[in-house]
Amino acid sequence: MTTKGNEAHAIESELRADLTIRRHRLATRLTHWMWAAALFFLLLSGLQIFNAHPALYIGQQSGFDFDNSVLSIQPIRDADGSIKGETTVLGRRFDTTGVLGVSGPQEHRSYSAFPAWLTVPSYHDLATGRVVHFFFAWLFATAYVLWLLASLFNGHLGRDIVPGRTDFRALPQTVIDHLRFRFGHDGRYNCLQKLAYAAVLLLFFPLMILTGLTMSPGMNAAWPWLLELFGGRQTARTIHFTVMLLLLAFFAVHLFMVFAAGPINEMRSMITGRYRIDDPHKGGPAR
Ligand code: HEM
Repeated sequence: MTTKGNEAHAIESELRADLTIRRHRLATRLTHWMWAAALFFLLLSGLQIFNAHPALYIGQQSGFDFDNSVLSIQPIRDADGSIKGETTVLGRRFDTTGVLGVSGPQEHRSYSAFPAWLTVPSYHDLATGRVVHFFFAWLFATAYVLWLLASLFNGHLGRDIVPGRTDFRALPQTVIDHLRFRFGHDGRYNCLQKLAYAAVLLLFFPLMILTGLTMSPGMNAAWPWLLELFGGRQTARTIHFTVMLLLLAFFAVHLFMVFAAGPINEMRSMITGRYRIDDPHKGGPAR
């Protein structure tokens, strides 16, 4: 390379370095990956536990004298003698053969609510499923307490998560930009990100932990007010399951947005903390 070429290269590197900021702190990155891993195993072991009694209820108890079930997934025998999977949601029946209730190839038919490939372990084993679930539940809760303390202490919670008046004022424009797939990279969360993250971190995660504790007989003795708060163990179980579905919906949108916004830059910021902001002179998105 010529001297002029070297100079131009050095200036460009300097400019690039100027556009790189430290975005996510160590506590944010560490806890993010702790709960991403924990939620993966919590989901699969949770479905193993659900399979042991594949129905959800509202109220203090379940029973044979009354029907307070809001969801059930089961194999049933059809009029022609064949067995099909049936999912009932709020009294409406759906044929879910092949996915829920009855799944797998003819020679290895599985008659559990969720198919074997979606559970940990993949065979029917409630005891191991519970051991895995409780291990990752404590890891998840520890990561959450760490995140909460660190975010209160370093200002992340107030600055980046809870939306303020200026965020709400910019909300209509942010929605329009998102619909046009135009994402700014200034290193700060926009109102939609703040709202989504606040819902996950300040509503879904605490609800998941508290309804989980409500289902534990040991906790019922220590903190009976949890049962009062959630209207009994069966309702707590239904809320626990519903929040799992909401987290899955968040996860799908979250991954989509990470890839749409520039996966390398976004991922690097959540792994190393370094994030490249838009060049104000060029106006193009950072990658
Ligand atoms: C169920 C699993 C996951 C949950 C619940 C979750 C949740 C979150 C939350 C709440 C934040 C904001 C954190 C904060 O600022 O304190 C965040 C940021 C982020 N997550 Fe995840 N995440 C999950 C999985 C993943 C995965 C698998 C990836 C990688 C493909 C990922 C990539 C990122 C990135 C790059 C950011 C920062 C992006 C931004 O600017 O908004 N996440 N995630």
